[in-house]
Formats: sequence, C-alpha cells, structure tokens
Amino acid sequence: MEQLLSAVKLSKNIKIKLTMVSFIRSQTRVIVSKVSKYFVQGAVVKKNMGSSYSRSYSPNSGQGGSCNENRGTISRMESTNNYVESVVCQENDLKDNEMKVFDIGEDGKVLVVKQKGEFSAIGTKCTHYGAPLINGALGDGRLRCPWHGACFNLKTGDIEDFPGFDSLPCYQVTVTDKGEVKVRAKISDLKTNKRIKDMGVVSPCEGSVVVIVGGGPSGATCAESLRSEGFKGRITVIAKEPHLPYDRIKVSKIGTVTDIEKLQARSQKYYDDANIEIMKGVEATKIEPNDKLVHLNNGNKLRYSALYLATGSKPRVPDIPGIDLKNIFTVRNYEDSINILTTLGSNQDKDVVVLGLRFIGLESAASCNEKAKSITVVGKQKAPLEQIFGPEIGRSLQKLFEDKGVKFQFETTITKCNGEDGVIKSVELTNGTVLPADMLILGVGTTFNTEFVKDSGLKLEANGAVSVNDKLETNIQNIYAGGDIAHAPVAAYDNKQMTIGHVGLSQYHGRVAALNILKKETSLQTVPFFWTMLFGKSIRYAGCGRAASTLIDGNVDDLKFVIFFFDETDKVIAMASCMRDPIVAQFAEFLHQGKSLYKKDLKDDRFAWTKSIN
Ligand SMILES: Cc1cc2nc3c(=O)[nH]c(=O)nc-3n(C[C@H](O)[C@H](O)[C@H](O)COP(=O)(O)OP(=O)(O)OC[C@H]3O[C@@H](n4cnc5c(N)ncnc54)[C@H](O)[C@@H]3O)c2cc1C
Ligand code: FES
Repeated sequence: MEQLLSAVKLSKNIKIKLTMVSFIRSQTRVIVSKVSKYFVQGAVVKKNMGSSYSRSYSPNSGQGGSCNENRGTISRMESTNNYVESVVCQENDLKDNEMKVFDIGEDGKVLVVKQKGEFSAIGTKCTHYGAPLINGALGDGRLRCPWHGACFNLKTGDIEDFPGFDSLPCYQVTVTDKGEVKVRAKISDLKTNKRIKDMGVVSPCEGSVVVIVGGGPSGATCAESLRSEGFKGRITVIAKEPHLPYDRIKVSKIGTVTDIEKLQARSQKYYDDANIEIMKGVEATKIEPNDKLVHLNNGNKLRYSALYLATGSKPRVPDIPGIDLKNIFTVRNYEDSINILTTLGSNQDKDVVVLGLRFIGLESAASCNEKAKSITVVGKQKAPLEQIFGPEIGRSLQKLFEDKGVKFQFETTITKCNGEDGVIKSVELTNGTVLPADMLILGVGTTFNTEFVKDSGLKLEANGAVSVNDKLETNIQNIYAGGDIAHAPVAAYDNKQMTIGHVGLSQYHGRVAALNILKKETSLQTVPFFWTMLFGKSIRYAGCGRAASTLIDGNVDDLKFVIFFFDETDKVIAMASCMRDPIVAQFAEFLHQGKSLYKKDLKDDRFAWTKSIN
C-alpha cells in the first residue's frame, strides 16, 4: 500500500511539474511559432525585397536581409547581430549533385549542395564525431556521413539515420537574379554546427504513459523521438545503470574519455526540459502485459499505455575455473572501462591477456597496448576478425598488431585462470601454454538482457532475443522491442529477421518504435552499418548476412582495401573498407534506395554503381 501511495505521490509531483513546465513551454512555443511563420520549408520561388526576383531554399532562416552585390561580402541584420548573410558563390560554380564548403564571412563555414537544380546549405561536420560531410555519400535528398553512416536531410538538416543525436543547422539559400548564391545563417548555429530538434509540448491532460525499459542509445532515442514527434504524455525511462544515457562505444577505447559527463549524450537539464523522466539505477524485474504493468526492483510498479523494451546485451563470461578471481574484466559499461584503466596504472608493469579476436577484444588490446608491459590476445580463430573479413585481411591485421608489440595465441582458448591471494596471475590455454596475466579482459560475445520478460508471454527466440515485426511490434499489443535485443527484419537483406548489435541500428530502432507508438506507421528501412578503429586504421562495414564468397579491391598488406561480400546468387550483401571512405557509406545509401548489385556489375568498373545514388 505504501508503495502504491508513493507511486501516486510521485505521479502527482510529476503532473504539477509538467503543468508548470508546459506552461513555460507553451509560451516559448508561441514565440517560436511567430518566428517560424517566416521560415521557408523546402525550395520556393519568392519575390525578394525590392523588385528583382530570387529563388530561396531551406528552412532554418529568418526573414528579410539585404542584397549583396559582391561575392563574399557580408551583411548583418540591422535589428540584431545574430545573423550573417553572404554571397558564397555563383549559381554555376556548382554542378548538379556537387557539394562545396564555403566561408561565410569570418563566422564559420557552410556546406552548399546543389541537387536537381536546387541549393541547400547545411552544417559542415557530422554531429556524431565531427566527420567532414563534404566527403560523405550524397543520396537523394540526404547526405550520409562517410565515417559511421549517420544521415542528414538536405532540406531540413534533420538527422534521419544514426549514430548521433543532433541534427544539423540548415541555412537559408537565395539565388538572386544575377545568379549569386546567397546564404543566410544564424551565427550561433555556425559556431555549434548542431541543432537539437524542438521537443514539443507536454499536456497535463494527456493520460498516456510510455515506459521505456533500458537507458542505452535505443531507449534514449525512443524517448527523444516521442517528444520531438509530438507525444504529449508522460515518458519514463527505466535505466539500470546509475548514469544518463552515454556513449558505450568509447568503453572499449580504454582511457579515451574518463569523465562520464563528457560521455553522456544529454544533460539532466535537457531531460528536465523535455519532460523525460530517467529513473537511474532502477531495474525492471517483471512485466505483466494483461495489467500493463512494469515491476521495478525498488518495489514500485509502473502502468504503461505503450512499452518499449531496449535492455541490450551483457557480456558472456566463460565458465572456467578461476574466472571469479580479481582483475578479470568484461567490457560493456563505463565502470568496466574505468576499472581496467585504474588497474593498468601508469607504470607499464602489467601483463595483460585478452580473450577474443573480435571487435571488443581487439579494440581493448589496441587501446591498452601502450599502458601495459605486455598484451597477448587469445582466440579460437586463425587471425583477428577472420570470421568476418577472411584470412587474408586477418593476417594483415595480425601484422598491424604485431608491429605494435601485441602477441597472439591463435586456435586456442583459456581453460583455467590461476591466482594468488585471490588475484589472477596466469592463464592456461588448451594448447598447453601458460601465460603470465596480471589482468584478463574478456571479449567473447554477449547474451541478451531479457530474462525479466521470460514468463510474460512475449515471443522470444532460442537465444533470448525478442521477436518483432518490421514495425518493432512484439506479439503482445502495445509492447515494442528494439536495439540489441530485437530479432527484427532487415530490409536490406530481403527482410530476413536478424539480431544485430550496432549502435546506429539501435538508435534507428528507437526512432521507428517511437513513430509506431504514435501510430505514425513506419517500417524498418535502414542498412546495418558498423565500424572499428584499430591503431589508426578505420574499418567500416555496411550490409549483413553470411557471405558465400568475397572479392577484394585494393592493397590488403597496406590495409587500404574494399571487400565485396556475395551471397550464393552472387548478389553483394555487404561491403567493408579500410581507409577507402566514403565507399561503404555510398554502398549503404545504394542499399537504402532498394538497389541491388551483382558480381557481374563489377566486371568493367567496380565502382560504377556509386554514380547511381544521387
Ligand atoms: C565496448 C563496446 C563497443 C562498441 N562499439 C561499437 C561500435 O564501434 N560501433 C557500433 O555500431 N556498435 C558498437 N557497439 C555496440 C553498441 O554499443 C550496441 O549495439 C548498443 O549499445 C545497443 O544499444 P541498446 O540501447 O540496444 O542496448 P544497451 O546499450 O546495452 O543499453 C541497454 C541498457 O539497458 C539496461 N538494462 C538492462 N536490463 C535492464 C532492466 N531489466 N531494467 C532497466 N534497465 C536495464 C542496461 O544496463 C543498459 O544500460 C559496442 C558495444 C560495446 C559494449
Ligand atoms: S562521425 Fe558521422 S556518423 Fe560518426
């Protein structure tokens, strides 16, 4: 009873807070809507101030602005100092489907794109990790980042595919009757190069509650998308970790970011302003679909109108003697990364063994290398990443690592961990080798955090993943699942169902779930995109599926290559590259457009298909 009362009290407090905040927001909204009626969506032909005509493109602009006669000159708004306007080029300086970066006075740079005769001007750097978008893959009406595949709409700057959270600023472009391309930009947008979508308003009368279980990238994106797409009810995120959603990718890059605040995608203030309640350090223990209830480990229960499950994966721990000794680490959460870094210390006096020849093991080994006395990577395969990229590239990666001093033990695994005073000291391998080990890092796969829904009636796969359709709906009405735990159709792979652990995909799932919760019916359309960076070499991968054969273009020894992965029908199902951007981003865009590529299409020119994406 006490728990019920406290839940009611909590909900009352939240309602009062929502009322106050929504009042403030509604006032803000009035101002915003007054301003935005001057904004232009898309390309229009309009009369400019004065008698000459001009074509104006793009949304995030203000009204008015005087004409510049000279290329590169700047005029500022008379009433405020917040905008800058400049003629950046002549209309014919850009061919169709061409992009160029221009200075806009001394205030910053804009990326101008010409497509179908129309101009757009957006921020120059990807809002994820800052890749120069000029090197990206220009699709039909959108631009895909060359590094990790995020997509931005050319007309609005909105982020349409992930990773990353923010949209790009989008500036007003006017083509004058003299053929001058004039861009008008808010100075603060030029400086930040980012834009957070309007979070909409909350209504105290709206009784709907969306509960999101899991505070990872998928849950966080679902929450944000619900708000930015107009959901006015309550949003509660149950997050087992004691942090706001953060960038998990950095966890295996040991020592790169140690401050959790810097890893978090959003601040507490952001969530407060958006009326998104994040229950940190709270775990969902059970769901009761008949009563629409989620049970929490603090004894409370939450009632939902719609439920999004995005509880992600947890590292597999091998069942071997000595695995409970101290200084044995998995690599999943912020604390894992900090514990590894702290235990390594700064004296380069630790022998480190890493179990696992895939991404997590290799990234951990590479990032610990300079801080350790020795690093040995142990795994069952014959070479690093051999299962994905094949033996040739595996051997080249092996050389890359060995040149940096990393040792390998292939085709073997650990059978036992030996310790002293409860701390690991060595590991024994199936091939009889005993390796000294002050630390052991485990990178041997994951299982799904779905035990808590086992008896709920939800349809689970044998591996524990949640089966969903192309709208991320489970077999139970109003329950959706996404991110790592979703066994979902992949449009780019003939809608075959797969469970894929990529951060961009998990965010995309979050957005699609939000849209479907809001009954804005949306089917999954994205292309899985993955990457890793090993000793400065960036490997990207787009597509999915088990390959029957491969074709390598480039130089494997220098780790500068493209691999085409074919299925049994010789269709290209995936592509990977190392130091050959933006080819993988272009392939992702190609697949996104529903196009198919076959081995025979690569005969005369392996990259002719890149011309067909815009
Ligand atoms: C070290 C590391 C590096 C990676 N690098 C890359 C990369 O370079 N590129 C790439 O594409 N992908 C990468 N990934 C994969 C990527 O991080 C995942 O695919 C992504 O985080 C999945 O997001 P998610 O929201 O589905 O799950 P998660 O990120 O796992 O988040 C789920 C959250 O839910 C919480 N939770 C679990 N159970 C409960 C419960 N019952 N109640 C409440 N909360 C619960 C978990 O504690 C967790 O915080 C990496 C993963 C790791 C671990
Ligand atoms: S830097 Fe653009 S997606 Fe990562």
